Amino acid sequence: EKELVIAIDGPAGAGKSTVARIIADKLGYVYIDTGAMYRALTLKALNNNIALESEKELSKLAHNTDIRLAKQGENNIVLLDNKNVTTEIRSNQVSNNVSLVAKVAQVREEMVSLQRQMAKSGKVVMDGRDIGTVVLPNADVKIFLTASVEERSERRYQELISKGEEVDLEQIKTEIIRRDEIDQNREVSPLVEAEDAIRVDTTKLDINQVVQNIISICQEV
Ligand code: C5P
Repeated sequence: EKELVIAIDGPAGAGKSTVARIIADKLGYVYIDTGAMYRALTLKALNNNIALESEKELSKLAHNTDIRLAKQGENNIVLLDNKNVTTEIRSNQVSNNVSLVAKVAQVREEMVSLQRQMAKSGKVVMDGRDIGTVVLPNADVKIFLTASVEERSERRYQELISKGEEVDLEQIKTEIIRRDEIDQNREVSPLVEAEDAIRVDTTKLDINQVVQNIISICQEV
């Protein structure tokens, strides 16, 4: 069987990370969650009261921060300067600020170079916003995962509720729309569908159907 590099991009809440993780497990590949890297840096910026409008401060921070994705038994964990921040980076506060950090050119440069490093040996599933377009333009399989904004908001809402966060569905929807807008309109590596990506709309599909769909796309390569 051919060893593949699989890129999965799309807007917030389309199901990328859930699906990418399952596919990586099934194929025995490494899963690389690039959003987690931008989230970890955002957490550090918030904890250190760094002004999120300051590109210079954020660039400096990115340069002086150690972000690693690791495996702890079955689990994928995120290490920020050697501290496990896997749960913390999923807070709504991080979600609502991460796009401001991720739009800074020098921040992206640091992250992209780490991401390419991690994908070097192949057999990877990487998810994000610019994987098929910028990070791994030669990926063997490029998927663009989408769903209606209502469906994506509902999923994020359920996810936060199940973690005991107090949230409002309409507000979540507003926040998702805002985050997508920043991601799609930034100057550097905006969220766009790669020309050679295969679009998968997950609005009416369950996780299993999406996974099967992508696995069969991989088998055709
Ligand atoms: O995938 P996730 O929702 O965790 O990503 C969080 C944020 O990180 C995105 O909204 C986006 O601003 C940024 N991001 C990015 N490029 C990537 C992955 C994530 O700009 N490759």
